[in-house]
Amino acid sequence: MSKTEPVMQDIMRKPAEVLYQEELQALIREDQGKVPTGWQMSPQSVLKFIVGGQAGGRTITPKYIGNARLVEMAIATLVTDRALLLIGEPGTAKSWLSENLSAAIYGNSGLVVQGTAGTTEEQVRYSWNYAMLLAQGPTPEALVKSPIMRAMEAGGIARFEEISRCASEVQDALISILSEKTISVPELGKEVNARKGFSIIATANTRDRGVNEMSTALKRRFNMIVLPAPADLETEVEIVKKRVAEIASSYDLQAAAPSDEALQKVVTIFRELRSGMTLDKKEKVKSPAGVISTAEAISLLTNSMALAASFGGGEMTDEDLAAGLQGAIVKDDDKDRLVWKEYLDNVMKKRGAGWRGLYTACKEMNQ
Ligand SMILES: Nc1ncnc2c1ncn2[C@@H]1O[C@H](COP(=O)(O)OP(=O)(O)OP(=O)(O)O)[C@@H](O)[C@H]1O
Ligand SMILES: [Mg+2]
Repeated sequence: MSKTEPVMQDIMRKPAEVLYQEELQALIREDQGKVPTGWQMSPQSVLKFIVGGQAGGRTITPKYIGNARLVEMAIATLVTDRALLLIGEPGTAKSWLSENLSAAIYGNSGLVVQGTAGTTEEQVRYSWNYAMLLAQGPTPEALVKSPIMRAMEAGGIARFEEISRCASEVQDALISILSEKTISVPELGKEVNARKGFSIIATANTRDRGVNEMSTALKRRFNMIVLPAPADLETEVEIVKKRVAEIASSYDLQAAAPSDEALQKVVTIFRELRSGMTLDKKEKVKSPAGVISTAEAISLLTNSMALAASFGGGEMTDEDLAAGLQGAIVKDDDKDRLVWKEYLDNVMKKRGAGWRGLYTACKEMNQ
């Protein structure tokens, strides 16, 4: 293998089908259910892959932690020919669930269109290799297929991230793909028809709504499932704990995992700032302008671990945590600094000895 070709273990972020390859193989091997055409396992096994369980003596780790019913509804949608749209606040695992569903159903989560204001119709349908087009005219070799076209040909799943950020022409291009299940290529006088198993999983962020409201025609072609923020403190702590451990091990961070106490504290702070109320509902607090989602809690803690591993004793200290909290909560805004200061003085300071160390470190950071 040449030096420029990375081996899989050096890949920075492994896709779900690689990361959980052994779990997927066990599920396929032990599958007792009926496998829909084009799928690699039954809907029941897909569910087990997402919410966790056992397959022939092998533990399947939960990927999505939360309401299993929502996951069942998502899978059931993909069994029919309807497309799936996952919506919700930032950091509620929309992309994560979409990646893991594609990995379980189709074995490849990499056919992705990333929606931005600059996404073009060609990125949804097809484009051309212009050098070849000029030299030979339109030929099948010169055709550059979009991830969606490739999923159609293979009977697989294409992912469309942040669909509501796209301009309406681009969204319209999807309507015909979803209702006709074909893309015609008039230049070649042919049509690409979707094979059974083809579907699209799109995600959209509720904070972006209004930028480009999705047309009703497009919405009608999707089953929408709203992914909520974690229901309670325990669930959120569990999610954060699990993901931090996974991410830290993939980065090979030489630091101890955050203590349960540190996890509880970070998640408590996040939930209180997010809801504008202390957990005992006795006191109102102000919310910072930025998003403070579960995903932020996860990256804050992995950052603090990296700090501890690289410049500390390998054990996460209150100072490491305070640095992470400061970065997550105060985003280039003086107002946030004030919000954080008020929270520190009105809430954290009064929480007694167990919080004293963190309070002092945060106070110092927020000067
Ligand atoms: N309920 C949950 N179960 C498991 N992991 C979760 C859950 N909620 C959040 N996470 C974790 O949070 C991280 C961020 O999730 P993800 O990027 O999928 O969010 P998103 O909803 O796509 O956000 P955005 O709208 O910003 O794109 C992932 O590492 C994911 O594992
Ligand atoms: Mg996302």
